Amino acid sequence: MDYKNILFEEKKSIAIVTINRPEKLNALNYQTMVELKDVFEKIKNSETVKVVIITGAGEKAFVAGADISELNKLDVVSGKEFAEFGQAVFTGIEKLGKPVIAAVNGFALGGGCELSLACTIRLASENAKFGQPEVNLGIIPGYGGTQRLARLINSGRALEYILTGNMMNAEEAYRIGLVNHVYTQENLLEEAEKLAMKIISKGQVAIKMSLNAVNSVDELSENEGLNYEASLFAVCCGTEDFKEGTSAFLEKRKPEFKS
Ligand code: COA
Repeated sequence: MDYKNILFEEKKSIAIVTINRPEKLNALNYQTMVELKDVFEKIKNSETVKVVIITGAGEKAFVAGADISELNKLDVVSGKEFAEFGQAVFTGIEKLGKPVIAAVNGFALGGGCELSLACTIRLASENAKFGQPEVNLGIIPGYGGTQRLARLINSGRALEYILTGNMMNAEEAYRIGLVNHVYTQENLLEEAEKLAMKIISKGQVAIKMSLNAVNSVDELSENEGLNYEASLFAVCCGTEDFKEGTSAFLEKRKPEFKS
């Protein structure tokens, strides 16, 4: 598929996906969502990509939301399809099986905030602004925001943002745990790449199993979760990486993981 609204680059096992409609603040129209679905399917099946970074083109926006000129045409039937399609694309990102780092370089509003929420780790530039302003349009978040924001920052805080449409700056997003780190806009991508390289340097089976275990936390009871953790731990114990990692420690050298 030829992409019109996203850029895709692969370097050193990192896939960098850039939403590229800066003149519309990278708003997610249908075409962009189809392209995102396609690129993340490719990344899932790629044997070389180990970590993904997603960001927005330009200096102003990560993604300023779903494209309001398309939203405006929805009715009850197409509205349901619209939300279900967006949710499926974002759940595909959340369950990719590879870490996805959101490098939030400006406005992350509505669907843009929801896109960042579906990512594994969020990093922000100092000028980033998060928000779920859907109430201003007479709708609610429909790409997973009501669920993921409430889980991440607690329902009281999430409801304040969802009910008022207020924006939150990077400092506040950091304070409440929505983003892991805040960097200057200039350094954001470089820091995201450093984080990606650090993850890539580890045994990749352990990375995958860590994602599986932590991602199950909202789906399983504590007992089920602990059982699942023990099973995934056991899988790791059967790998070459495990032998290499533990031997390297005991031999006082750096491990060389093969996976
Ligand atoms: N959908 C479609 N177009 C959008 C958009 C969106 N979500 N967000 C921004 N744009 C477009 C604007 O219409 C404008 O296009 P134009 O130049 O053809 O008129 C362009 O992007 C630049 O945006 P503009 O509003 O002029 O920039 P600003 O700096 O004055 O304001 C925002 C920035 C983010 C505050 C403002 O664009 C905004 O409120 N966007 C909508 C956010 C939103 O409600 N998102 C949730 C949707 S569910």
